[in-house]
Amino acid sequence: MAFASGKVLLFGEHAVVHGEPAIAAGLDRGVVATRHDADELRLVVPAWDLDVRAGDGSRVGRAIEALAGALPAEARRGRFEVSPSIPPGAGLGSSAALAVAVARAALSVANDLADEELVAAAALASERVFHGNPSGLDHTVAMRGGLIRFRRGTPPIVDPLSAAETLSLVVAPVEPGADTGAMVRGVARRVDHHPGLELLAAIGRVVDRAAACIRDGDIEAVGELMDINHGLLAALGVSTPGLDAACHRARNAGALGAKLTGAGGGGAIVALAAAEGADEIAAALGPGAFVATVAGGNHHG
Ligand code: PMV
Repeated sequence: MAFASGKVLLFGEHAVVHGEPAIAAGLDRGVVATRHDADELRLVVPAWDLDVRAGDGSRVGRAIEALAGALPAEARRGRFEVSPSIPPGAGLGSSAALAVAVARAALSVANDLADEELVAAAALASERVFHGNPSGLDHTVAMRGGLIRFRRGTPPIVDPLSAAETLSLVVAPVEPGADTGAMVRGVARRVDHHPGLELLAAIGRVVDRAAACIRDGDIEAVGELMDINHGLLAALGVSTPGLDAACHRARNAGALGAKLTGAGGGGAIVALAAAEGADEIAAALGPGAFVATVAGGNHHG
């Protein structure tokens, strides 16, 4: 049995594809995969109504083929039963968590195969089928969890971030998500149409300020920066009326800030609660909303 975390992007989605930094937190929810011996390569996710075989022509089928292709021959077969505790396609890193959990479960076929570099390579191969041009952030968080500042590269730069104060987040799936690859292409088109606006660089600067405020425990500033990041994402064309409305609902329920999270065009929002305020915000956002806490580390009275 293998686990991989879902993630919530706190700052920097889309700009991260173009080389700007981003901040993401691993969730304690994610995906558990169990391997059963089989002569085929098959993926079964009852909660998502998914039952696919490598070679069946479906996108998930191609993704698991790509994943298995990056693994040693003895790890390329099996029936993988997957049990998720995050919704699919909501920008919470479900495809990356699925890929990481399945790759780890596949490598569990022999003791000496466990190798996190292989897991990363297999997950990236799978993410390329889903996303075209993935930054690598999703599978990085799926593998290690925690709060990180990430910058794309070969290898990527991954800096653990320690929060001085606990971040009390509310994550709410709002509507079905859009295709991440299509959203990423739409952003590239818009940025190319209007050169010189520096929207992506502005997001990068928001990320750097947010990292400093998280380290210093200036939670109110972190919330404000989430609002600013949401505005910049809206300027890039990836928000929707549903996501905007959910952000306003969260702020009206006391959130210090709120933004869409992930690729946008639908999917989820993340809001930052003041101490004790998370449950009220979650209630305002409806039944799918959940509270995720990023523990503060440095600060002792
Ligand atoms: O919605 P998700 O979980 O696929 O997140 C996408 C994040 C992007 O920055 C839009 C794409 C990427 O590869 O980083």
